[in-house]
Amino acid sequence: MGIKYFKKRKIFHLYSKNFSYYIGINKLGYLIHLYSGNYLDDIGIERTNERYMERYGFLDSDLNKEVQDEDYYFSIIASQFECASFGKGDKRNYFARFKREDGIDITNFIFKDYKLIKGPVFPTGLPHPRFNDNEACTLIVVLKDEFSDVILELYYVISEKYEVLARFSKIYNNSKEKIVLKRLSSFELDLNNNNYDIMAMHGTWSNDRQVERIPLNHSITKISDNHGSRGFNYNPSIALLNKEANLDNGEVIGLSLMYSGDFSYEINVDEIDQTRIICGINDENFEYNLEPNESFTTPIGLMTFTNKGMNKISQIFHKLCKERIIPNYDRFKNRPILLNSWEACTFDFDTDKIINFIDEAKKLNIEMVVIDDGWFGNRNDDTSSLGDWNVNENKVNLKKIVDYCHSINMKIGLWVEPEMISPNSNLFKEHPEFSLYPKTYKNPTLFRHQLVLDLVNKDARNYVFNELTNIFDNLKFDYVKWDFNRFLTEGYSETLNKNSKLETYHKFVLGTYDLLNRFITRYPNILLETCASGGGRFDFGMLYYSPQIWCSDETDITQRVNIQYATNLFYPLSANGAHVSNRKIGTIQDKAILAFFGTYGYELDITKLNEDDKNKIIEFNKLYKEHHQVINDGIYYALSDPFSSNYASFMAITENKKEAILFFFNYRKETTKSRFIKLKGLDANKYYFNSLTNDIYKGSFYMNVGINLSAPLDAFTTALVVLKEVDPIKTSIYKVMVQNKPQKRTKLL
Ligand code: GLA
Repeated sequence: MGIKYFKKRKIFHLYSKNFSYYIGINKLGYLIHLYSGNYLDDIGIERTNERYMERYGFLDSDLNKEVQDEDYYFSIIASQFECASFGKGDKRNYFARFKREDGIDITNFIFKDYKLIKGPVFPTGLPHPRFNDNEACTLIVVLKDEFSDVILELYYVISEKYEVLARFSKIYNNSKEKIVLKRLSSFELDLNNNNYDIMAMHGTWSNDRQVERIPLNHSITKISDNHGSRGFNYNPSIALLNKEANLDNGEVIGLSLMYSGDFSYEINVDEIDQTRIICGINDENFEYNLEPNESFTTPIGLMTFTNKGMNKISQIFHKLCKERIIPNYDRFKNRPILLNSWEACTFDFDTDKIINFIDEAKKLNIEMVVIDDGWFGNRNDDTSSLGDWNVNENKVNLKKIVDYCHSINMKIGLWVEPEMISPNSNLFKEHPEFSLYPKTYKNPTLFRHQLVLDLVNKDARNYVFNELTNIFDNLKFDYVKWDFNRFLTEGYSETLNKNSKLETYHKFVLGTYDLLNRFITRYPNILLETCASGGGRFDFGMLYYSPQIWCSDETDITQRVNIQYATNLFYPLSANGAHVSNRKIGTIQDKAILAFFGTYGYELDITKLNEDDKNKIIEFNKLYKEHHQVINDGIYYALSDPFSSNYASFMAITENKKEAILFFFNYRKETTKSRFIKLKGLDANKYYFNSLTNDIYKGSFYMNVGINLSAPLDAFTTALVVLKEVDPIKTSIYKVMVQNKPQKRTKLL
């Protein structure tokens, strides 16, 4: 069990192999954060941060006389907490805030009790790691507000196996009056120094997830989103890196909120150089009424720690996501190579055109065709029909297509955008109240000519779910692309009374989760890919329902290399929807190599390709099939960061270290650069054949000298290198090599 309680000293120790998290209960009942970092078998008699608080203890000693004895210091101004108070002496950022009927909102939680539970405890209806009973345990700390009968529970679910601490909180209104919750954080993390940079990912449409390393200063740095259910602008996964930390060395704390709505990380460096992180639902669009006996539970925050650099954080999140977040990883282990109709046709297709695609795709060994937007209502452009989920029979015969596809042993997929409604739709005519904006407001904001469906409204949810079942009960699709193409504005549900309007944003996210949950429960065999104008909703909340997410609408490789590199920092390659398109930059081969490092597919008119490109596609598909398990299941290493150098490089290696695959991309035309890419994670003593030069070297050679890519390189050169373990004695190539004969170089591609 990864939790110990030292009763006498009132200290909890939560731990995995590599990290420790210590919490203490002080004499006044405050929950003190004692330590988080490398594994420590004991925190010692000294109770870390309280000792350092001597000076500040003195400053507010009138407030807390009883704790100012000679060996014990505490300061509400400057101690490190687990749930900082609001409205008392702590003027840093706070954990929770609620207003009582007397108008007062001072909030201060004092320890009451705790529970230790073998196995994980998580709320229903919110995405969380799917830990088994024997791979996690839970500490629940129960606290009571000093001024009211409001109870706070802090949940700490630790998995030694996955090296992750999952945290959330729950508030109960045990008082006799209503309270209005203004903020309830998922977790607080107080650190006793300010030696950190934040690594965060911001972005916009077609420029999804751009990495920025931000130094902390003495103010609040806020990484947040307020678009309601779409995190283009900032992603809810961030890392805190020690100033010296890099990809492979140094202390890094990885954080991610498993939530697809407005989130916020407030990172505050105080005047004595301590850092406080408060993470949870962004309270800009949030307020929640709790009547007596009602409760509120936050989304789950994930936290992990390493002293081995960012790559280790990526590996921890990738493994957790593949094995314990996405549904049915084993069922969807072999993702089909797909062809999506969007970039080739947009809205302009009919039955014959799709059948042509299917025939051509079959010849090229593509395994699935996806019919994107435009098959329903009167949808021939983006101005209408969202909500009218009936097949446009004049345009396309879906039944014929599905049957045909299956008859030739291919798979078939369909695009939907269930969370939306077009003003120009039958649904809007019949149920204008299903759209999300106050109906007293005559000028709701349209984006892409559409409004958001009010998913707080149960009837609207039921309506759209029934529409989905009408399609997917009758037509046996193998795959669904679930899109979300605008963000929330005027987000006040008509179903909520005037005092509860600010509950809309959060309840909308819960509505989305409810809908997704119903969908995957009813159709467990459908492979679901979520999407939001590309990768506008790429988070562990969505991955709890869909094993893959369309990474970006940007398929020009120069941009996309960076987007994929950034996505890989937190999310596994098996989740990263990646297609070969006919955008202008790069050859078809460059695009294929990049798309290999995701869920592979095509998004171009394959019927118009020349014979040469068709043959190449057959070759790519074969290669992908041969190697994609290494990419999907392997351990990931970033080798070179395109945000801070002229090239991007990353690799994946099987757990048994027998096979590895490496990606390289050069941005600039460089004729005279010494460029040795040092590989990572190989077995130093194994011999590996590499497909770039057809040579065999020891793992130690590849990791210390590197693969030599110093040859003059054109701009946008892409390389794919496969390494395979070989037995050097038995391998003739090795014998040739040791005899010093020059090798014939037969590149993989
Ligand atoms: C979004 C998606 C695209 C495509 C279109 C269809 O932009 O990201 O891939 O599905 O919608 O309208």
